[in-house]
Amino acid sequence: MSERSKKLFVKTFGCQMNVYDSERMSEALAAEGYSSTAEIADADLIVVNTCHIREKAAEKVYSELGRITQLKTQRAATGRQTVVAVAGCVAQAEGAEIVARAPQVDLVVGPQSYHRLPDLVRRAATGEQVVDTEFPEEDKFANLPERTVKPQTTDSPAGPAAAFLTVQESCDKFCTFCVVPYTRGMEFSRPIAQIEAEACKLVARGVRELTLLGQNVNAFHGEGPDGRSWSLARLLDRLAGVDGLERLRYTTSHPRDMSDDLIAAHRDNPKLMPYLHLPFQAGSDRILAGMNRKHTAADYLRLVERIRAARPDIALSTDIIVGFPGETEDEFEATLDLVRAVGFAQAYSFKYSARPGTPAASLGSEVPAAVASERLERLQGLLGEQQASFNAECVGKVFPVLFEKPGRRQGQLVGRSPYLQPVHAMAASSFLGRILPVVISSAGPHSLAGDVLAA
Ligand code: 5AD
Ligand code: SF4
Repeated sequence: MSERSKKLFVKTFGCQMNVYDSERMSEALAAEGYSSTAEIADADLIVVNTCHIREKAAEKVYSELGRITQLKTQRAATGRQTVVAVAGCVAQAEGAEIVARAPQVDLVVGPQSYHRLPDLVRRAATGEQVVDTEFPEEDKFANLPERTVKPQTTDSPAGPAAAFLTVQESCDKFCTFCVVPYTRGMEFSRPIAQIEAEACKLVARGVRELTLLGQNVNAFHGEGPDGRSWSLARLLDRLAGVDGLERLRYTTSHPRDMSDDLIAAHRDNPKLMPYLHLPFQAGSDRILAGMNRKHTAADYLRLVERIRAARPDIALSTDIIVGFPGETEDEFEATLDLVRAVGFAQAYSFKYSARPGTPAASLGSEVPAAVASERLERLQGLLGEQQASFNAECVGKVFPVLFEKPGRRQGQLVGRSPYLQPVHAMAASSFLGRILPVVISSAGPHSLAGDVLAA
């Protein structure tokens, strides 16, 4: 088989940063002659990009590896080699243990070593079992090939209209339940010039909306062109000057890092969308202290007030954990109270999952699984109501919608409102990648539908 015809299949679990990393890994491997396939059975190289945030997420990796092992054996029977690589946060956290548990894995690579992938894959292909979970000195981003955003679908030959751009990695907040500070290495911000160059590359390929990513993105402190440390607000201001870039978003933020200039950017930066994902995790101050969140429920409410004063129509989203060790019924109800007091357009909620090596894992006083499940159900009921009413209030309004992909129905496109809601509308495929006014005619629990007003 020639080098040119090698096929790559990447399976991505977890957060948006993993989606971004998978794109960068594909690009790094394209330089080695690997082209992407949607058929896992055709792949000469399978990369499983993993998530370690909760036990369920980590366990999914092993069931996936079980399926891949079968496939590898079948392919071997017809004389085809399959290199199996495990990347992402499970790779970082478990390293060589993965190979012990799933011996068909040829390569384990942590998130800070993706620029080394071509070399690591070459070694793995010769039969060596390779584990690289180092935190190398060199700058991963500077050593990855330039962005080559591929057309997402045949209907959008211009390529994707919205893209992720990682600007910050890891976190040094050390919430007691969270593995991120251990799996992603030292908290790190990319230099402004490097980010701006990548943004311009993406925009030149048709991207109109960028979501700046980081596990604690609003702690961003990248080196500016003046050699000083720049805040996220300054970075957003700089990127707002990129011609052809119409929309900016960022995620995920910590309440403690919502600085005055970032709040002001929600008032002053015309390209910054009125949407903010701001996890609060729990409504009880005792639980928040146990989580080492460094804020109280009242701090969060005051912050929301300031953000809404700057941008009254902002849609808020959050992350919430139920059943943290020792959480009482009253403490859980404080979470419901905070949700009612804020009013969210959207939210993610989870049952607490003890993660090996985190401080909370050795607390004891576990909340029984059935109690946690029942609390999660009640919380999700409330969040679902809030989301449905936020969506219902949009009916009759006109939103600028950035059309991103074809819808499920013939002749239909799907785009995003400024508030990140998916919006379905009948529209010609030539509207892909464009922002058009849409009058919202109906609302569902998770999306809107409407009619394009003018081309
Ligand atoms: N158990 C449950 N949820 C968790 N999260 C992070 N760690 C855990 C854990 N151990 C949730 C938090 C975080 C989101 C990405 O995942 O809500 O904001
Ligand atoms: Fe984890 Fe977020 Fe807390 Fe950082 S701020 S430790 S990423 S939950």
